[in-house]
Amino acid sequence: MNLPRQKLVVEDLRLGYWSRRSHSFSLACDGLSFDVAENEFVAIVGPSGCGKTTFLTALAGLTPVTSGRLELNGEQIEGPAPDRSLVFQHASLYPWRNVVANIEFGLKAQKRLDRRGRARVAELIDLVGLTGKEDTYPRELSGGMSQRVNLARALATDPDLLLLDEPFSALDAQTRELMQDELTRIWQSDGAGTGKTAVFITHDVPEAVFLADRVVVFSSGPARLVEIVDVRLPRPRGSEIKRTPQFQEIHDHILDLVMSQTQPGRRAAPHDSNAPVAG
Ligand SMILES: Nc1ncnc2c1ncn2[C@@H]1O[C@H](COP(=O)(O)OP(=O)(O)OP(=O)(O)O)[C@@H](O)[C@H]1O
Ligand SMILES: [Mg+2]
Repeated sequence: MNLPRQKLVVEDLRLGYWSRRSHSFSLACDGLSFDVAENEFVAIVGPSGCGKTTFLTALAGLTPVTSGRLELNGEQIEGPAPDRSLVFQHASLYPWRNVVANIEFGLKAQKRLDRRGRARVAELIDLVGLTGKEDTYPRELSGGMSQRVNLARALATDPDLLLLDEPFSALDAQTRELMQDELTRIWQSDGAGTGKTAVFITHDVPEAVFLADRVVVFSSGPARLVEIVDVRLPRPRGSEIKRTPQFQEIHDHILDLVMSQTQPGRRAAPHDSNAPVAG
């Protein structure tokens, strides 16, 4: 069989934590299996505490794999590497470095801050809308601006895999929408380093649907796979797509799946344009 090559392979993956205090092991992810294709944008949603961050940190190589396969480009992930960039909920910028120096940091650490590297940083500053803020220090930036710097820093090293853990959840609703627009715009633009394979964790179902090609729904902890929902919405996407019936249908289905995990007994509405959608 001639299957398309998968960028990321997750097979029967179990992750957990060993507690020295209680001498016990607790599972955070249990038997996860799914693939992510090259250039695909996958969002993960699931109840609080189910194991989403644990999964992402395993992708980053920061949490060891208990059992199963977790492969990037055909190789088991065994530790952190510069081919992956991680963006957290709170922008972790260096307060003593200005915007440019923060974005340049990863390239500098990898000894790649040459002429090309600097040009890439300048391009990213423009792409994330920070032109004119190059010399500004983090304390003078708003939350949204800080998160833009964070995003630009993650993209600067041209990572193979971009990992984002609720990067916009600390922002107010309006800034959050702007950042979602910005991220899809960066994603859809043709410049270098865009269209990357990305795994994006969020609690916000509309955000997941708007950004992703597929939404992976995790169960309550330990995380198991509930369903993978295809988001067959055209690209490029603008925020007006959120008002279409197609968007609403996918959104409602995913929300039902998530709610069914937090409220046992509640069943998800079918996701099939020919099937009746529960009201
Ligand atoms: N460093 C750790 N040591 C021990 N247990 C941990 C550690 N980090 C997380 N856990 C446990 O693993 C489980 C999953 O946590 P995780 O942070 O992955 O959930 P999450 O889905 O990201 O939650 P949230 O949506 O609230 O961010 C929880 O039961 C949590 O208490
Ligand atoms: Mg988390």
